[in-house]
Amino acid sequence: MGMDVPVIAIDGPSGSGKGTIARLLAERLGWQLLDSGAMYRVLGLAATRRDMALDDERALTELAQDLDVSFEVDEAGEQRVVLDGDDVSTAIRTEEAGNAASKVAVLPAVRKALLERQRAFRRAPGLVADGRDMGTVVFPDAPCKIYLTASVEERARRRYNQLNQQGLGGNLSALLKDIAERDRRDSSRSVAPLRPAEDATILDTTGIAVDEVLERVLEAAEARLRFEH
Ligand code: DC
Repeated sequence: MGMDVPVIAIDGPSGSGKGTIARLLAERLGWQLLDSGAMYRVLGLAATRRDMALDDERALTELAQDLDVSFEVDEAGEQRVVLDGDDVSTAIRTEEAGNAASKVAVLPAVRKALLERQRAFRRAPGLVADGRDMGTVVFPDAPCKIYLTASVEERARRRYNQLNQQGLGGNLSALLKDIAERDRRDSSRSVAPLRPAEDATILDTTGIAVDEVLERVLEAAEARLRFEH
């Protein structure tokens, strides 16, 4: 579907800043945005709400196939995630939902069930796709692939600030442990493990402000896609 529509794939570990950068980039270019982590988070949340075991591959795959989820943009231009008619945009951002997402994401059949839903976001004039396997599995033909990373301490600090801003609260040392654990799970799973695509531009964002990271990503995209910003 839409193979001629350009894709900028932005992958990286939790807290690397890829969510923020992907959103700003999509706004700047006027392109579609896919927050693939939100899909895994919605599934994790839906499973938790139904008291399902997070390793029941068959049941979770059925749930992934039937999931009534939509991504909408409100009047303020914010992306809202709606599950079964319920706005879960904030609920999916908790650490619990993130951990549940990381657990259901190790299951191959679950990943397969979410594949086409993710590819359906590829619509003109272009797509900015944020996740772990955008450049390696979901859009391997993406003309521009970026891999953002940062030290685990910096990522924990960013997550801490983000959670506080959203009024969700958090504990820095617990977050550090959580992030290290999630890195390990996301990188060691057998299907679509977290790793840069061979043709990805790798950017370490430790100590670099958001504006500067955005400029560097735009430069990389410009070089790969031949547009000017
Ligand atoms: O980017 P995030 O923190 O919202 O993602 C939550 C979890 O979902 C992450 O720990 C692993 C999983 N995930 C994935 O396996 N593949 C993706 N493309 C995106 C997220």
